[in-house]
Formats: sequence, structure tokens, C-alpha cells
Amino acid sequence: MTLTRRRLIQTTAAASLASLLPRAVFSQGTGNRKAVVHADQEIGIIRPELHSHFAEHLGSCVYGGIWVGKNSPVPNINGFRRAAVDYLKELGVPVLRWPGGCFADDYHWRDGIGPAAKRPKSVNTNWGGYTEDNGFGTHEFVEFCRLIGAEPYFAANVGSGSPQEMRDWMEYCNQPSGSSLAEERAANGSPEPFRVRYWGVGNELWGCGGNFTAQRTAEEYRHFATFARAFGGLRPYLVGCGPNGNNTQWTRGFMDTLSGYRMDGYSMHFYSNGNLPPLEYTPEAMYTQLNSFPRVEQAIIQQRNLLDGYDPNRRIGLFLDEWGVWDRMTAEDEKRNGRLWQQESMRSAVAAGLGLNIFNRQAEKLYMCNIAQMVNVLQAVLITDGPEGRNCVRTTSYYAFMLFKPHRAKTSVRTETDASSDQLPDLSFSASRQGGDVVVTLVNPRHNADMQVDCEIRGATPRQGRAEILHDPDINAYNSFDNPNRVVIRPHPLSVENGWIRLALPAMSVATVTLQVA
Ligand code: AHR
Repeated sequence: MTLTRRRLIQTTAAASLASLLPRAVFSQGTGNRKAVVHADQEIGIIRPELHSHFAEHLGSCVYGGIWVGKNSPVPNINGFRRAAVDYLKELGVPVLRWPGGCFADDYHWRDGIGPAAKRPKSVNTNWGGYTEDNGFGTHEFVEFCRLIGAEPYFAANVGSGSPQEMRDWMEYCNQPSGSSLAEERAANGSPEPFRVRYWGVGNELWGCGGNFTAQRTAEEYRHFATFARAFGGLRPYLVGCGPNGNNTQWTRGFMDTLSGYRMDGYSMHFYSNGNLPPLEYTPEAMYTQLNSFPRVEQAIIQQRNLLDGYDPNRRIGLFLDEWGVWDRMTAEDEKRNGRLWQQESMRSAVAAGLGLNIFNRQAEKLYMCNIAQMVNVLQAVLITDGPEGRNCVRTTSYYAFMLFKPHRAKTSVRTETDASSDQLPDLSFSASRQGGDVVVTLVNPRHNADMQVDCEIRGATPRQGRAEILHDPDINAYNSFDNPNRVVIRPHPLSVENGWIRLALPAMSVATVTLQVA
């Protein structure tokens, strides 16, 4: 059954807006929307990790994206694209997951250490059979994370690897000294341990990682986890392979077989597929894609609920390790820029906003979410062009993430709207609070309906505020190499009066309101 927005609100909200406001205020079909922020009804902390990222050895995400090499004509810091480092630092990347994806279950970490010229060359069989020269390996990844201020998250190889290979990688990274692997790391230029905490035990073990059953995946997990020791006093945080989308059967099979064995995180993947090339969307195709977001919310609720049955104290963190829009690639784009290269449009920014609002509303159920992927691939926040890739552009999705940044580490609070739709996505919104600061994010996903939003702030009195907006009426508007600032964040009028805020939310927009409350 498709969970419509209205039903979702009814199932997740303790009291419906209809019971709180007179009937007359409901004006479905017009451009007016009523909303309520319950500033005193806490849901949970919005972990900054819900705004994390994923980078795979795929297309031009790493090579030609993040990494241009030390001798590149592209401005770089030790081989890392300078513009990407600057933009990502400004955005703030809490955690970065690497090296895959499907690539992870065919990756042997020893290939990526030692003098670059001596590293073996392998073939990236998952993503087009190109030569992987292993120029970007463990040391480079950790250095990049440090440059942008992200915490590293490794996906270890289960599919074609072994428990020993994963365990040795942990020792290589985390043992301070006194072992051959620690000495090898020091000889390779890093006497200080990397202290990598997050470890995924395989990627999609139900697919490219081995086509295992849920039961076999849990058995593999138990086997690998047995040898995942603490090195340097750091106990690894281990993430098991969860379902594709909301596969409840997978989770039951996995958790039954796990039988209470220690697991820290559980990773699901949920992509929002679209059937047109990124810049050729019709409203109908866009709505089909955006209508997957209520299913994302439903998946988070149901998967958490299932886990709760096995783990009532919520010791296991629910991860949405890969999410975002996956459009139909064009052969031309992929030939020029690598596999799964995808330009982002105003539609993608709206999709990002829908997803990030969901994470706020379900904050107490989620531990980490990683947008797929960081640069050039799928719902990237940065894109570069061509083989040399001299340009680096902040995509519409970059700016959507930027608009949600003020929520980080605040407490999500309950919200309600009279938005309704059985067929089309409607106003999406969420709010958070920390002391005297309240943040509200709103998304208008309609291509032809401007909305006016009247929002009551209950449980606190708004004194003053400001709004910012990302908006373009064209669903296919994008930031190009020639026009990199077409869709950027701009100030937006807001009225704050008598406990209410009011703002216009034009068709295809994502907005943030920051308020000072008493
Ligand atoms: O992100 C692209 C691919 O999507 C990843 O490699 C895989 O995990 C998923 O199927």
C-alpha cells in the first residue's frame, strides 16, 4: 500500500491538526497551507551524522573528482582538488563512507598503500572495467577526511575478502605501535594511528556483495565481527548489512540469525529512481520520483520498529547508508564524465529537502544517513566536467544541504501541516529547537502551485527571524559550468507576528526559517 502524505501525518502525529484548528482554515487545492510547530514537543537530537556522505571508486567520484593527483594542472592540495576541499569544508561533512558501494566487496586494501608508483593496477569490474591504479588508498582517504573535517567510515570487503583482511586493515589503521602492521603504516608516512571507528561489514551483500541470503549475511557478519578487535583501545563500531529498501523479510531473517550477537549499526539503502535523464524531467516523471519519499519515511519507521523488537533499548543504530535520486543516465554524459555522472536540478534539490525533512521528523530513529554520492556520481553535491575536470560547481543539492545545516545537533520537535495529497507530493516541513533558537525547513515540491504558509509556533514565542530560499520555477534549472550560480540560496521575506510566521513558498522551492524565540 502506498502511504500517502495525509495518512503518514495521521499515523505519526499524536494529534491531528484538524482537531486543533477550525475546519475553515483547511483550504485544500488552494495555495494556502497551515502549519504548526510544537516547539516544546521533542522528538530527538538531529545527529549531524544524518547529513553525511558517501564516496565510491565509481566514475569520476574519486579519480577526477576528489582526487586529481599531485601533478595535476587543476589547483590541488597534495593531489586533492582544492575547490572541492574548500566547498566541502564550508558545507561540513560529518562522516564520509568509502570505498564503496559495490566496489568495496572487490577491494583489497593492501593494493592502496605504499609508494604510489609501486601499487598494483587492478580492474574496476563493477563500474566499467577501467584501470584502477590504486593511487587513492587508505592514507589518501584519511588525509582527505582530515582536510574536510569528516570522520572516516570504511566499508570492508566481505564478498571477496576475509575476516583476516578486515581485521588486518583495522590493525593497520588503529594500532599505535608495536606490531608489524603499525610499523608498516608508520613507514608509509603515518606514525600516528588513523583511529578509524566506523566499519561496514560488507556493502550490499544481498546483491553485488555476494548475492547472499539474509541468514547467510548474518552468519558472515558474526564471523567477520568475531575478529574485529579493538586496536589502540578503540573498539570498532560495526555496521551490518541491512535491506534494499524496506525489505522486512530481510531484516527478520538477518536479525533472527544474528541471535543477539553484538552489532552496532544496521545499514539500509533506499534510492529514489527516476526514468528520465537529469535535465529532461517532466512534472509527471518528477512526481513519480518524489512520491518515493513517503516510502523512505515508511521504511525508516518500519525498519526501526522491527529492530526494536530485537533491540528494545535501541543499542543498534539505524543507518541509511545510501540514499538520493538516481536518474536515467545519458550515454554521452557517462562517456564524457564517467559512470553514473548526474547533473542536479531544482528537482534534485527538492528531493534532497524532502529527504532531509524526513530525517528530522524521524530523528530519534536514525543514527546516520549518507547521500549517494559526494562528487559527480548520482545526487552529488559537487560536479566537475570532462577528463581534466577543471571546473568544480556546487550543485543544487549542495545548497539544499546547506539550508538544513542549522538543524544539526538541535532537537527535532513535532510539527503538523494541513498539507494533503493522494497523488502529488505537497508541502513538506520539519523543525528543531535549541534554547532560544528554532529552525524550520519547508519544501514546496509542486511545479505549478505557489503556496503561502501560515505557521503557528506553539510552546514558544517567536520574537524575530529571517528566511532564506533556494528556488527556480523551472524543475530542470541547474548550475552549469557556464552559469554556476543560477540556483543559489537567497534571502527571502518573512513576517513574524503574534506567535505566527508567514512566508510565500513559490513552486519548486526549499526554504529555511531561523527564529529567535522566548
Ligand atoms: O551508489 C551506486 C551503487 O548503488 C553502489 O555501488 C551500490 O552499493 C548501490 O547499489
